[in-house]
Amino acid sequence: MFKPALKALACALTLSVAGLAQAAESQPTAPIVIKFSHVVAEHTPKGQGALLFKKLAEERLPGKVTVQVYPNSSLFGDGKEMEALLLGDVQLIAPSLAKFEHYTKQIQVFDLPFLFDDIHAVDRFQQSPEGQGLLKSMESKGITGLGYWHNGMKQLSANKALYEPKDARGLKFRVQASAVLDEQFKALRAAPRKMSFAEVYQGLQTGVVNGAENPYSNIYSQKMHEVQKFITESDHGVLDYMVITNTKFWNGMPEDVRTELEAILAEVSAEVNKQAESLNQADKQRILDAGTTEIITLTPEQRAKWRDAMRPVWKKFENDIGADLIKAAERANEAG
Ligand code: LMR
Repeated sequence: MFKPALKALACALTLSVAGLAQAAESQPTAPIVIKFSHVVAEHTPKGQGALLFKKLAEERLPGKVTVQVYPNSSLFGDGKEMEALLLGDVQLIAPSLAKFEHYTKQIQVFDLPFLFDDIHAVDRFQQSPEGQGLLKSMESKGITGLGYWHNGMKQLSANKALYEPKDARGLKFRVQASAVLDEQFKALRAAPRKMSFAEVYQGLQTGVVNGAENPYSNIYSQKMHEVQKFITESDHGVLDYMVITNTKFWNGMPEDVRTELEAILAEVSAEVNKQAESLNQADKQRILDAGTTEIITLTPEQRAKWRDAMRPVWKKFENDIGADLIKAAERANEAG
């Protein structure tokens, strides 16, 4: 006596399952959300790059990809962003090359003082087979490098005029979380203090640290010039970025979307790298115009003294980085 009722029920179920499948088919799939978090201001090479990536990705993949950009450590600071990437809480970040030592020792090559003559040599090394190889060096840890973005060469700043290494003796310098940079300041007999980027302005203002090393765009956009009386144009090292993603997330995207995003990133990287130097030069001029800070130009003899003081650091990291990789980076100077 239950048979007709059961039949009707089965029929209704079949219909509703079919209906659901149909609804799912006709419903547009939700766009893939890519959170891009960084620690600098928007008017910097990285800040501009993140915004251009958002613009192009949403223009060329409408309805398929949404990019949310979080500047100024507003989502994660530099101490947390890598962990957040691995946990899937953010999908794209571009940490400075100084911040990878827990994932691979080789990328420390970029921090070696006085290794690159200028940003063009840095660029040549990044585009070389060795430089491109580093993008893949963290895949076993779940991190894929998608490209390099320039910021620029670093300048020393302090409230004291720094002409020679001995002028830095005893001063406290803020450093990024990098053993190489730590040793670089120890080689000057100065005191390095690791500090996250968001805390640097306050650290300088309150005297927790007396000096720092940054490209002009980071000095200007964080208003560090307001609390630093002198900048020595030392160009002693580079602050550049690797744009990275979570390997599993990236490989899990539909292939057409991933291919398009990779093409967009290549385009954005070229644009960032083209603009970075002029952006830094414009910020140098803004610092000069502000009148708060004297910019010291070193004589070749003075620069040689800084180089001699810092270069012994190389030896300490040669085994970790690899002598061949250091040589490959040095070769990038010759091609200029
Ligand atoms: C720093 O901590 O000084 C830099 O890594 C900040 C940045 O991302 O440029």
